[in-house]
Amino acid sequence: MTKHLLRMQDLSKDNIIEILNFADKLKHEKKNNIQHNLLQGKTLAMIFKKSSTRTRVSFETGMYQLGGHALCLNAGDLQIGRGEPVEDTARVLSRYVDGIMIRTFAHQEVDDLAKYGSIPVINGLTDEEHPCQVLADLMTIREYKGKLDGIKLCYIGDGNNMANSLITGGLTAGLKVSVACPDGYKPHKFALDFAEQYGDNFLLTNDIFKAACGADVIYTDVWASMGMEADAQQRMIDFQGYCVDNKLLSIAKDDVIVQHCLPAHRGEEITAEAFEAHAAEIFEEAENRLHVQKAVLAMLL
Ligand code: CP
Ligand code: NVA
Repeated sequence: MTKHLLRMQDLSKDNIIEILNFADKLKHEKKNNIQHNLLQGKTLAMIFKKSSTRTRVSFETGMYQLGGHALCLNAGDLQIGRGEPVEDTARVLSRYVDGIMIRTFAHQEVDDLAKYGSIPVINGLTDEEHPCQVLADLMTIREYKGKLDGIKLCYIGDGNNMANSLITGGLTAGLKVSVACPDGYKPHKFALDFAEQYGDNFLLTNDIFKAACGADVIYTDVWASMGMEADAQQRMIDFQGYCVDNKLLSIAKDDVIVQHCLPAHRGEEITAEAFEAHAAEIFEEAENRLHVQKAVLAMLL
């Protein structure tokens, strides 16, 4: 296993499978009320520069369930919010706690925390990546489909942090990945460069029907991510036609599952009808954040 969890592309297929196997085990044991004290006496610092429900609660609960403790540190309450450099914050926190999870804007801050600190750093979402979410997504896909190799994942919408991490993580894990997004909203260059080595297993198009044809999994995310609120109105116009609805789902496989990292905007990236028809797998995906987080925490800390 790597020392940190910064980007999906830092993980090998073996690393991913190891995390998912451990998460499956922890999920099974949780359902059977088997307790673990794998992180007794350990503390996780959680720094948030953006809002969060799932990431915050799954990490905090996960630390508690493993016998450890989590500190929720909103950036506005820290000196980092008043300009204290990340490199100093990293060196100070390294002397108090056993790991740092950070949700922020610029990915560079996560890399800098890892560079200047001496403890594991976990990326809890940046403008470029959301690896913790993609691990939970892969866990859910494997639960529903029984395997990852050859499964066709179709992502519809904004070429954002989710798209980037799904492309790199999905291809590494053995999935075929197709992405449909409007011109001007393509995934980041690092993800497209990474995908080049996977040849026909990757497709980028602006045709949602071409991307979704025969898919095992249809994935979508908000049109305006956190930090893009000022562009939201323009995005509502630019993303017309990129909604996951029953018509789109009808050209996927009959047993297609829908995934959404949440929060969802019904009537925008997904219709209420499509969302509710696939709520079971979407909320299983949300639950799996907890099990995957625990696996990552136990392995890194
Ligand atoms: N999917 C996800 O990361 O949710 P939160 O923003 O609520 O943490
Ligand atoms: N792309 C979304 C994901 C939220 C979990 C955002 O960054 O806001």
